[in-house]
Amino acid sequence: MYWYLPWNWSLAFLEGLSGQGRGYVATPLGDEADLRAAASIHAESFAHAWDEDEFTSLLSQAGTFGFVARRPGHPLPDGLVLARLTVDEAEILTVAVSRHARNRGIGRLLMDRVLEHLHAERALALFLEVDETNQPALALYRKLRFEEVGRRPAYYPGPDGQRTSALVLKRSLRG
Ligand SMILES: CC(C)(COP(=O)(O)OP(=O)(O)OC[C@H]1O[C@@H](n2cnc3c(N)ncnc32)[C@H](O)[C@@H]1OP(=O)(O)O)[C@@H](O)C(=O)NCCC(=O)NCCS
Repeated sequence: MYWYLPWNWSLAFLEGLSGQGRGYVATPLGDEADLRAAASIHAESFAHAWDEDEFTSLLSQAGTFGFVARRPGHPLPDGLVLARLTVDEAEILTVAVSRHARNRGIGRLLMDRVLEHLHAERALALFLEVDETNQPALALYRKLRFEEVGRRPAYYPGPDGQRTSALVLKRSLRG
C-alpha cells in the first residue's frame, strides 16, 4: 500500500516498523477526554500551559489539527501534537510527551503523523519555533531534517532571569 509514496515517506514508514514509538499509536485529537489529557501533558511540559478550553478553541479554528499517542487499550494518551495548515504552509503549535514516557519514540511518532497529514494535503513546508537550549526537542527536529531559517534573540524568559533565543526551523516537504 505504501509503494506509491515518495521514497522519503516509504523510509519513514520503514523506520516506524523498526521501532519508533513502538507499542504506541497516534490518533486524531478531538474527543473530550483526550483534550483534558492533552492539557495535563501540556501543563507538565511548559511554564505557560494551555487549558482544555484553549485546546478546544484552537482545534475549532480552520486548518488546525492534532494527534495524541497512546498505548492501544490505554485510556490516557502520553503525548500530543497540535499544528495548523494555512494554504500550503504549516506550523507546529505545540508538541509534548508526558515526562514518564519521553525518549521512547513518541515525539517522533507524533511528528511523523503531522508530516504524513501535510504530505496528503500537498503542503510545501512545516515551520516551528524552539528554544535554543531545548536539547531533546532539537534532537527530535534534527532527526526530522528541520533546518534553521531564523533566530529571535532573547525571546524566551529563563528561570534565572537570562533570556534565551528562539530558533525558527523549517522542514521542506517537497523535493
Ligand atoms: C521534545 C519532546 C516532545 C520529544 O519527545 P520524545 O518522545 O521524548 O522524543 P523521541 O523519543 O521521539 O526522540 C526523538 C529523537 O530525539 C532524541 N532525544 C529525545 N530526547 C533526548 C534527550 N533528552 N537528549 C538527547 N536526545 C534526545 C532521541 O534519542 C531520538 O533520537 P533517536 O531516534 O536517534 O533515538 C519531549 O522531550 C517533550 O515533551 N519535551 C517537553 C516539551 C517540549 O519541549 N516540546 C517542544 C517544544 S518546541
